[in-house]
Amino acid sequence: MKQKLDEYKHIVENNLDKIFSNQNIPHNLKEAMNYSLSAGGKRLRPVLCMVWGELFGLDKNSLLNFATSLELIHTYSLVHDDLPAMDNDDYRRGKPANHIQFGEATAILVGDGLLTEAFKLMLDNDLPADRIKRATAEVAASTGPRGMVGGQALDMSLQKQQEIQLNTLKQMHSLKTAELIKTSCLSGAILAGSQEEDLERVRIYGRCIGLAFQVADDILDVVGDKSNLGKPVGSDMKAGKTTYTSLIGLEESKKIGQDLIEQALDTLQPYTGEQAEFLKELSNYIVERIE
Ligand code: IPE
Ligand code: IPE
Ligand code: MG
Ligand code: MG
Ligand code: MG
Repeated sequence: MKQKLDEYKHIVENNLDKIFSNQNIPHNLKEAMNYSLSAGGKRLRPVLCMVWGELFGLDKNSLLNFATSLELIHTYSLVHDDLPAMDNDDYRRGKPANHIQFGEATAILVGDGLLTEAFKLMLDNDLPADRIKRATAEVAASTGPRGMVGGQALDMSLQKQQEIQLNTLKQMHSLKTAELIKTSCLSGAILAGSQEEDLERVRIYGRCIGLAFQVADDILDVVGDKSNLGKPVGSDMKAGKTTYTSLIGLEESKKIGQDLIEQALDTLQPYTGEQAEFLKELSNYIVERIE
């Protein structure tokens, strides 16, 4: 699985290298965008898009630009997430955070630039226009105020509250993290022209692994290792955030993560072949990180 993941990562990273080269972009902005994009990262979202697209019959190269745009959006969210006004973290993907290296104004513009460039890239492919339209609308809905941005806003406002219910936390996790992961899976399937019945399974799969992913992220903030994660540990506690671990403890959180992965694996039942196998292993990898 790791080898296949590396192959996909390599394809995405080659495409990322091309995006901002030879273009009329102010030097400092281009350098700062490339700094965060090329810093590494698991590339989970573009890989999910490509694998689901392939499972439903597309060649992964035809989806590459769309998949890459998801990494641009994700990277923008991390650059803004680390800003002093948000999580105030100074280290990301194994390097000083973007605002530490380039200053806050540039880091804000890096996020703005990555987000807008992502939509340019989503449209830059030869797939049928109706599918591109639908997939792009999904990305917009799941990353905007009804999705990821809304989740980040909830995250900020909950920080000031004393007593938070598990359901509220789950809602925040769904929006800030699971929505984009769900859409990464779903957009690949939409671009491949999948039927509604399949799309519903993909939606459930994406939501489950997306939620499990944020539960794991909360756990890793407690038990992880800075050099492995490439970002600070203990950041949530320092900021006084309510997380799965602070609310229900480590063991119960792990169990919730594992249950979510079980549900995701159930939705993969109807599918066979190389891609389905890879998706199973990728789902397990999300919780293996916390075992
Ligand atoms: C971190 O995402 C932010 C969350 C949504 C939990 P990743 O753990 O996917 O970060 P990278 O892309 O590998 O750096
Ligand atoms: C990040 O959540 C969610 C988004 C960036 C949208 P976190 O704030 O927990 O992510 P990390 O732990 O800083 O990567
Ligand atoms: Mg955050
Ligand atoms: Mg953060
Ligand atoms: Mg976190």
